[in-house]
Amino acid sequence: MRRLLLLTLPALLSACGGDRGETARRDSRSNDEASSPGPPTITSEFWGATPDGDSVSLYTLRNASGMIVQVSDWGGIVTRVLVPDRDGNLVDVVLGHDSLAAYVAGTTYFGAIVGRYANRIAGGRFELDGTTYELATNNGENHLHGGIRGFDKVLWKTFTVQSGPIPGSPFDVPGAGRASLILSYVSEDGDQGYPGQLEAEVTVTLTNGNELKFDYEVTTDAPTVVNLTHHGYWNLGGHDSGSILDHELELRASRFTPVDAGLIPTGELRHVEGTPFDFRTPTRIGERIEADDEQLGSGGGYDHNFMLDDWTGDGALRLAARLRDPTTGLAMEVLTTEPGLQFYSGNFLDGSDVGKAGTAYGHRNGLCLETQHFPDSPNRPEFPSTVLRPGEKYESTTVYQFRTE
Ligand code: GLA
Repeated sequence: MRRLLLLTLPALLSACGGDRGETARRDSRSNDEASSPGPPTITSEFWGATPDGDSVSLYTLRNASGMIVQVSDWGGIVTRVLVPDRDGNLVDVVLGHDSLAAYVAGTTYFGAIVGRYANRIAGGRFELDGTTYELATNNGENHLHGGIRGFDKVLWKTFTVQSGPIPGSPFDVPGAGRASLILSYVSEDGDQGYPGQLEAEVTVTLTNGNELKFDYEVTTDAPTVVNLTHHGYWNLGGHDSGSILDHELELRASRFTPVDAGLIPTGELRHVEGTPFDFRTPTRIGERIEADDEQLGSGGGYDHNFMLDDWTGDGALRLAARLRDPTTGLAMEVLTTEPGLQFYSGNFLDGSDVGKAGTAYGHRNGLCLETQHFPDSPNRPEFPSTVLRPGEKYESTTVYQFRTE
């Protein structure tokens, strides 16, 4: 079957390379054209300028079933994910802003690539090979999501790719293929206190299987630590539909890492049995979020790293989570090569973040499922290692796949 398709649907490779300014152009494609069958497409348009005056683009990826994803070279931010619901209506399932300026000023990490180290490093400090490194602190005394100017607040270089069927893809059906935005960024030695010059590449792909895929690759010229993630805030009822507490969540995790008051893991690996952290079967998020539980108190709700049961470290993609909104019938599966997943129930949202179409995002109006290594791993030798050395390659993949149920 696959061979036949490869013969009858020759791969269309239209790679238009270059830096942000060169690839910026107006997107004149109509919605009718976009929904016609065929491989996914990618177009770009000028979006604005950074505080330094650099030109920023917004890329639009579309697939044959009408799904649309917009992503910027500023912070690799995914600004929109439009998915058809069971009636065929497009629902924008991620929180975000309309303007670039709002992302530049924002502190929520809406839709961004987070790095060099997603999540917290205790005291903004770690030791590697006998040297102690002091990092920028931006979360009390701790380092969070890469520091004061993390990967969410820089301009990435881009390269776009459109192609036909992906060999080996389970979605190798007529019209299969992918559109990708490849983002690359060089973080200089000493950036936010980290050692080593880092070369990071993140490929954001949309397939005709309604998969939104992130492939991360990083190399370094000196020993360092790395942990990247995508920080999308999901609401499968639509970004403006209010609380996520009625969503059903399933997490393939029998243990989680309890935290102290600063949301730093204590080192305990606690079994979820009999706790509000047991999502091994699909459970309404709101069902136990107000339970009298010391860990829910520390997080102000869920803001915890779950240890994924199926992770072995072999680099294979495995199911981590399932999310479903009973109202729209939209469901999302998260597959990852990572050992952990931070489930954050949007506890810090308080209505002060005004987002797309003037929507004020209130308490728990979006949730994050951040695939990653465990928080504070550089200070926890017993956790899976986040150390990257010269000659090695950090590789990580996460897929968000959408369907209606
Ligand atoms: C992560 C953290 C949260 C919070 C958000 C951003 O998910 O775990 O505590 O900092 O990012 O607001």
